[in-house]
Amino acid sequence: RLYGPERRNSTGLDLSQKAVRDSMDSALKSFRDSPAISAGAIVSGKTDTGGGDMVRVPFDTEHVLGACKEASPEAIDKALKAAVKFQPSWDKLGGAKRAEHLRAMSDILEENASRLIALMSREGGKTLADGVAEVREAVDFCRYYAAQAEHEFEGAVRLPGPTGETNHISLHGRGVFCCISPWNFPLAIFTGQIVAALAAGNTVVAKPAEQTPLVAFETVRLFQKAGLPVDALHLLPGKGETVGAALTSDLRVSGVCFTGGTSTARMINRAIADRDGPIIPLIAETGGLNGLFVDTTALREQVIDDIVVSAFGSAGQRCSALRVAFLPKSTAQSLIDGIIGAMNELKLGDPAEADTDVGPVIDAEAREILEKHLEVMGKEAKVLHQVDAGKIGERGFGFGPALVELKSLDQITEEKFGPILHVIRYDPDDIDEVGAKLKAKGYGLTLGIHSRLESFHNEVKAACPVGNTYVNRSMTGAVVGVQPFGGEGLSGTGPKAGGPHYLHRFANERVVTVNI
Ligand code: NAD
Ligand code: ALA
Repeated sequence: RLYGPERRNSTGLDLSQKAVRDSMDSALKSFRDSPAISAGAIVSGKTDTGGGDMVRVPFDTEHVLGACKEASPEAIDKALKAAVKFQPSWDKLGGAKRAEHLRAMSDILEENASRLIALMSREGGKTLADGVAEVREAVDFCRYYAAQAEHEFEGAVRLPGPTGETNHISLHGRGVFCCISPWNFPLAIFTGQIVAALAAGNTVVAKPAEQTPLVAFETVRLFQKAGLPVDALHLLPGKGETVGAALTSDLRVSGVCFTGGTSTARMINRAIADRDGPIIPLIAETGGLNGLFVDTTALREQVIDDIVVSAFGSAGQRCSALRVAFLPKSTAQSLIDGIIGAMNELKLGDPAEADTDVGPVIDAEAREILEKHLEVMGKEAKVLHQVDAGKIGERGFGFGPALVELKSLDQITEEKFGPILHVIRYDPDDIDEVGAKLKAKGYGLTLGIHSRLESFHNEVKAACPVGNTYVNRSMTGAVVGVQPFGGEGLSGTGPKAGGPHYLHRFANERVVTVNI
């Protein structure tokens, strides 16, 4: 049975076409030649910019792309007041009319795809291919939730009941949703959270990641240009501990949608629990310690290809990325040799060049965490290989993809967010025991399986259940409405983004019973 309303995913841009490349090149050039972007809060459509923290290009830290002024306490207060005031009329508008707004938002993203991809490549260090996928995902979120809003948030649904009374259930926005997003999907996750909250009838205050405020700023301006009412969405950039903390502790916020690290999710969870007011939901999508199990029936070349893409694609800066590959003792050495060979073929370089496979990591702090981890691994485990950072390390936050062999899973306890892959040699006959050890780490985001035996797939799935399992393919790049995405345990609260149950968590359900 197929789920969901009739709909198509965005086709995206084909980077091999000259016209597409030309438009991308001219967008990239505009960021080199134009004055730096000045960003800041956008409250009721009015921008508050000028000064603030400089935004540098992670590939070339001498290139200042712009600056972002942190949202002031006054801006936060104004945004919340306006969002509270406007929410009842936004909710009353109904799902179908809100869907029209979401579709207009998706269209304007597509029309501005080249500029957004170029900006993500400069500000977020994303390769162009990753940028293309990200615009597609953002567009898909808008259209998927639009279709759901139309079907599920348009009027009340009659429920069966005894003769003599009518019963209706309807879905409504909860109020003002606070959406807090990470830098690694500065457009797709930023947009996905916002449009889900809007589709369900909430107004939104959005707090983007400190590292990528410019993508957020330009995106909100586009949404307003597309006709989104200015009081439906307010942008409040700034630090997590200042702007983020002010929002999550404010009683005018009726729900928080967060994507980021597990420890940050805990902090937010505590902040909303400590509020002396209504109990509100937290939708948290966090990190993973994602494993992949290979058995001896797996196809060697396919395994190597999928491991390299899953671990080192996007410089390993995906929550879904592969962190620990379990290789059968009998074929492990041959697989490791193949992985090292494939790592040496990766092109490290400027993410704005179409053939770059791996760009920089996001900032100095991220690189330092990875370097420290590799240093510890060099002493406690074994660093099998690291690709020279080369061009990405010259003026940017370069970190060459690395391969580490662990003696045991005890040597790694938490997600390290970057291009470091750990491998462990194991006996597939011990899958229950090894899988249980991975499960005991508490994460539950993605899982990979490479085997031609269905019995092995079932054993692995039972040993370590997660949100998204991928069999005989790569483990990243979930598609909206096709692979609804999200984890369990330390990896998040669910429900899954881009899935059939997501919008309901943003909504209140109301039942009216009339005795006639
Ligand atoms: P982060 O947790 O450091 O920051 C995420 C956001 O939270 C930022 O906007 C930040 O400013 C804000 N924040 C920080 N402290 C806060 C506080 N006290 N109160 C309110 N807001 C606060 O994460 P990051 O480094 O931006 O992103 C990387 C992490 O995100 C990784 O752990 C990755 O696995 C995870 N991630 C998860 C998913 C998913 O869907 N499960 C997707 C992408 C990224
Ligand atoms: N949704 C993203 C992926 O699947 C994180 O890679």
